[in-house]
Amino acid sequence: MSRNISGAATAIAVSEPVAAEPPREFAFSDADFRSLAQFAHEQAGIALADSKRNLVYSRLSRRLRALGLTSFRQYREHLAADPAELESFINAISTNLTKFFREAHHFDHFRTHVALPFTQSTHGAVGRRLRVWSAGCSTGEEPYTIAVVLKREIRDVDRHDVKILATDIDTDVVGKGIRGEYQANSIDEVPKTYREFFRPIDGKHENASVKVDEAVQKLVTFRRLNLMETWPFHGIFDAIFCRNVMIYFDAATKTTLVERLTQKIKPGGWLYIGHSESLIGAHPGLRLVGRTIYRREA
Ligand SMILES: C[S@@+](CC[C@H](N)C(=O)[O-])C[C@H]1O[C@@H](n2cnc3c(N)ncnc32)[C@H](O)[C@@H]1O
Repeated sequence: MSRNISGAATAIAVSEPVAAEPPREFAFSDADFRSLAQFAHEQAGIALADSKRNLVYSRLSRRLRALGLTSFRQYREHLAADPAELESFINAISTNLTKFFREAHHFDHFRTHVALPFTQSTHGAVGRRLRVWSAGCSTGEEPYTIAVVLKREIRDVDRHDVKILATDIDTDVVGKGIRGEYQANSIDEVPKTYREFFRPIDGKHENASVKVDEAVQKLVTFRRLNLMETWPFHGIFDAIFCRNVMIYFDAATKTTLVERLTQKIKPGGWLYIGHSESLIGAHPGLRLVGRTIYRREA
């Protein structure tokens, strides 16, 4: 039993009820948490506050079990010795919550300010270029939402050069995005006009699934990318969605990332961020034009 629990029991008066910590399957010290949190920050920019201690414990416990380890100290040693473990570590600590049409007002704006103007400006021309980046795309619901909006509004999308880049640091979610298969109830909040882009596949009731239409999938390219590292592409984007990613970063990391993202948006293009991520301070080149919607100035 841990020293904490037995130590607390002797120090506190008998009449005082003590809220004992539940015994842990794996030894997990303050030093373990601090060291893993520092590593997450160095590698992925993710800031893990003290309140995330239990989350880190439970997410990494699965790794310890899989590796047959008995303490987080052993896990730290393993992480330091085996560079391949970094991927599993990042996959375990990243938070991937997402859904189709999340923060729907962004897609209304995207439709009226990106998709419709594109259609109106083509005037029968072909090969027009449109680029959108879903940075921190998780399991694909965000880039596929962008894709169904474009597919529906740009009926001759195949005749143009329209591409959505979907990137995430977590290789598990990138794999799921590439498959494009989701539980049937995940499209419950998808507006009816877009349901045609999801095909029911095998399974009944709770096992039922849908698959994103092939023509929609073709618009999206998934890649593993750590936003903290160099970005291996040169083009600029008509719109970037970087939503609910920066909430995990500290202020300095966020400021640097927003500066880099701004450079990747074409003048007059758009940056969509998450509902709790309003950008504090000056962000040269960006103007707030709506709820968590920014425009790159010319
Ligand atoms: C909560 S999800 C948001 C998904 C989607 N953008 C949305 O708003 O629904 C945050 C995603 O950011 C990714 N992420 C965290 N740190 C990252 C980094 N340094 N580089 C790239 N992606 C990162 C996580 O893996 C996770 O999938």
